[in-house]
Amino acid sequence: MRSFYIETYGCQMNVSDSEIVNAILVGEGLTPVRDAESADVILLNTCAIRDNAERKVWERLKSLRSLRRGQSDRVLGVLGCMAERIREQVMEKEKLVDLVVGPDAYRDIPALLREVDDGRKAVNVILSLEETYADITPVRTSGNGVSAFVSVMRGCDNMCSFCVVPFTRGRERSRPIASVLDEVKQLAEAGYKEVTLLGQNVNSYNDNGLRFAELMYRVSQVDPEMRVRFSTSHPKDFPDELLHVIAERPNVCNSIHIPAQSGSDSVLQRMRRPYTRAEYLALIGRMRELIPGLSLSTDIITGFCGETEAEHAETVSLMAEVRFDLAYLFAYSERERTLAHRKYADDVPSDVKQRRLQEIIDTHRKGSERLNLAEIGTTHLVLVENVSRRREDQLSGRTDTNKVVIFDRTDVGIGDYVEVAVTGATSATLFADPIRKSSIAEFNAVYG
Ligand code: 5AD
Ligand code: SF4
Repeated sequence: MRSFYIETYGCQMNVSDSEIVNAILVGEGLTPVRDAESADVILLNTCAIRDNAERKVWERLKSLRSLRRGQSDRVLGVLGCMAERIREQVMEKEKLVDLVVGPDAYRDIPALLREVDDGRKAVNVILSLEETYADITPVRTSGNGVSAFVSVMRGCDNMCSFCVVPFTRGRERSRPIASVLDEVKQLAEAGYKEVTLLGQNVNSYNDNGLRFAELMYRVSQVDPEMRVRFSTSHPKDFPDELLHVIAERPNVCNSIHIPAQSGSDSVLQRMRRPYTRAEYLALIGRMRELIPGLSLSTDIITGFCGETEAEHAETVSLMAEVRFDLAYLFAYSERERTLAHRKYADDVPSDVKQRRLQEIIDTHRKGSERLNLAEIGTTHLVLVENVSRRREDQLSGRTDTNKVVIFDRTDVGIGDYVEVAVTGATSATLFADPIRKSSIAEFNAVYG
């Protein structure tokens, strides 16, 4: 029987897409295997968001070339966000791969594989206005049987000037609510304890007028013992209704990912982010007012085109002012086709970008360390996800507020809820004593 192996780069959306491709290939009778060496079909699901993401994929492609020597029937393919951009180079110039498939063409993979078997190179990078893979039940490969990603929309219409995603993933489209609810029900029945609804900007979700807050509400009703998270939200259109759903539903987690990108109005303008620093701060204030104990995470880009020291200082001060629990911090990487590439020069020298990035990292660490130290003595409900990577006798899981917690193993197992008391903290991790096995309902009755 023919075997396959998918290696995934990039964001949660790509992890979710790989699970769809997995389902399509299993449906064709192929068998998944755990490493490239033993696979007949090797697929890299790629990310194009920054140059270093692309470079990793190129290196991997070159190292995989040796695997193919002497085994000409072994197929190597590129999926995902790099597909469109690199098809010419990988196929015609460097002859590295046989198959190139963009994010909206995964249903075509079986037919494309047949073309490859017939000795042709096969490509489909056409983007779609409708494809949401709504009817495909992903074969889960991530999340330990506890936590699953559920894609609720695809593509992006925001056109931030730095971002390649609208070009790699196409126009925005929402998956019908019924298919989302069906998938969540199946996950609940299979014993999953957490779902994360995914989209480039979930606040644009629109299924014939039904919006994201309503979707979240209905998903939260499927199983009261199943945690519900979502990612990502754009600050321009965050509705109060969604804040109420988060505040009121015990199983909707008190954690919001809300990328600021910059703390400077002039940079935000060049980035085509249609909000100001003051509006962003007002939104954060509103979120914290409606949802006590809320945790916040963000994305920041340093060294965007034309960024001055004064503009950078505004981002540092935003980080200090908000104090994010978690932050994904990046140096700007110019991407072809974007507005920034056409309109502005990538003129902040890379050593300056790196220095500014480090300043943002340091500011963030100080803030998150203080937030985490303030957790000592508090009680949390943790969903157990893993045996600790460092020590077999410890378990790890996450709080409702998305913080990683490590604690000594007791009679609880992966997929259980456990009440813990926090005893220590670093800027990235909490340490705790387990108190008792619990549930969302029990915990909420006492502390809610
Ligand atoms: N350079 C650096 N970071 C980027 N991001 C998106 N495009 C770029 C780029 N060209 C970051 C943004 C986004 C996150 C997913 O990646 O912060 O929110
Ligand atoms: Fe995800 Fe964007 Fe990277 Fe594509 S380019 S994998 S959407 S982060």
